[in-house]
Amino acid sequence: MADPQEVLSRRVQSALGAAFGPEFADTDPVIRPSQFADYQANAALALAKRLGRKPREVSAAIMEHLDVADVCRAVEVSGPGFINLTLREDWIADQTRLLLEDPRVGVPVQERLDIPLDYSAPNVAKEMHVGHLRTTVVGDSLARTLEFLGHNVIRQNHIGDWGTPFGMLIEHLLEVGEESAEADLLTSDPNAFYQSARTKFDSSGPGADDFAARARRRVVALQGGDEETLRLWRELVGLSRVYFNKVYAKLGVTLTDDDLAGESTYNAVLADVCDELEAKGIAEVSEGALCVFLEGFIGREDKPVPLIIRKSDGGYGYATTDLATVRHRVEDLKADRILYVVGAPQAMHFKMVWATARKAGWLPDGVEVTHVQIGNVLGGDGKILRTRSGAPVRLMALLDEAVERAAAVVAENRPDLGAEEQAEIARQVGIGAVKYADLSVSHDTEYTFDFDRMLALTGNTGPYLQYAQARIRSIFRKGGLDLSSPRGGITVSEGAERDLALKLLEFGAVVEQVGALLQPHRLSAYLFELAQTLTAFYEHCPVLTAPTEAERESRLALVSVAFRVLVQGLDLLGVEAPEHM
Ligand code: ARG
Repeated sequence: MADPQEVLSRRVQSALGAAFGPEFADTDPVIRPSQFADYQANAALALAKRLGRKPREVSAAIMEHLDVADVCRAVEVSGPGFINLTLREDWIADQTRLLLEDPRVGVPVQERLDIPLDYSAPNVAKEMHVGHLRTTVVGDSLARTLEFLGHNVIRQNHIGDWGTPFGMLIEHLLEVGEESAEADLLTSDPNAFYQSARTKFDSSGPGADDFAARARRRVVALQGGDEETLRLWRELVGLSRVYFNKVYAKLGVTLTDDDLAGESTYNAVLADVCDELEAKGIAEVSEGALCVFLEGFIGREDKPVPLIIRKSDGGYGYATTDLATVRHRVEDLKADRILYVVGAPQAMHFKMVWATARKAGWLPDGVEVTHVQIGNVLGGDGKILRTRSGAPVRLMALLDEAVERAAAVVAENRPDLGAEEQAEIARQVGIGAVKYADLSVSHDTEYTFDFDRMLALTGNTGPYLQYAQARIRSIFRKGGLDLSSPRGGITVSEGAERDLALKLLEFGAVVEQVGALLQPHRLSAYLFELAQTLTAFYEHCPVLTAPTEAERESRLALVSVAFRVLVQGLDLLGVEAPEHM
């Protein structure tokens, strides 16, 4: 099977080569969907300038060499020199039949690259908030998509498991007792634990034995490798991990403990990172701190912004760790492409880290490195989503509420189903709706969190797409048919059949685009269009009650391909496909 746009591109390109010489054979033929045909090739317009000829003449020359008789039933020059291309119905049917037989429903396998993918990365002993939810959901979708395209995705959960807050967290853990209910909070509501520690720290007296002083001493002990302190630290991290895993399980995210590569992983090499940068003359001591000054990073009063890699007290920070991380991903993980799915406000941090790593020779030009910037999730008031009291929204509570609300919808729409089945659908729909909300908008834009909108059964929502595939399941169920056994005999005669088949043929190219541009919302937009095309199809083309047996077979085959595209597409987004809805 083939993506029509790609097939036409290749054909027009060979015509360009034949008409104007081999150096024109890789000119972009500018194939676009057309109002007057299926596609139009607009290459003549740009080429005319380059050749100093009239666009109409250029298209005439292309036409002379264009060989598409097996693909198109009509080819016409229109307007200033567009070439309108209308596909043959038998070609569309043939291609769709190939799709029916293809377990990958048209998605190619690409040349395998090693791709460390940094996402989720919450901070230990602090609640994962909606921002982390979005980096988790978008990152996981990219992981699934790149893997499906044939790549070796190396998930890297760069959790915040090191740094000064651990002093106060460890002291607090000691005070409340490791076996206490308060310590248990770490696995259910870690932010509450963090807040209590913080409050103690902030209200602590100045005395040598007060909480704050002990917390500071604890940081020193931790960095010095004191065994008992390390044990307590490991316990804190372990309890947090229990919490993260609960969230991941609830979300259906593919991250496991094996993917943990937190900040602490790099402790042993931070001194070496600093030494090497200093030896290479890239870092210099300024006001007691070891800094990298980079061209092009200028702050207020025209002062260069330093990347601080060792503080004046000798401590290392977030930037040092990330430098070690880049080096590790290139040297040890053999990265071809490195991706960071992290909040947009960290853009400057990454630019500086990469520029430094390039200078140091740790990041060769051949390795593509990208910050997939994640925008904020806002509340109804246009500010970052918070609870009414102003606290960060608890992720677990948010997910539970989504499932509860979905349960109400399911109970209303499907009272015929048993309680257990209703609950399972509610879980799939509630979680799917929240995830899809993150995936249906461009990852770098802000959006407003709105339960009613994301749970709606119409519009570009998770439930709408879930319903589209459930409806196909129900057609097959009603017909007493098996969805998994491919059927033959696809013919494309009605306009609605043609539209559906053409849409299905685009799937592979869309998935490739998501992998190249790192934009899952393109897949969402495609699936939404497909679901709408399906709705129009049902209106014009009854399936089980089609006028002839041949049409019935053909339509069943068409919707079974649509089913597989929907389920595969939802799976790449990380959204489940319920049996019933
Ligand atoms: N823990 C950080 C945060 O919560 C995100 C880490 C992202 N990854 C990285 N390599 N810096 O903001």
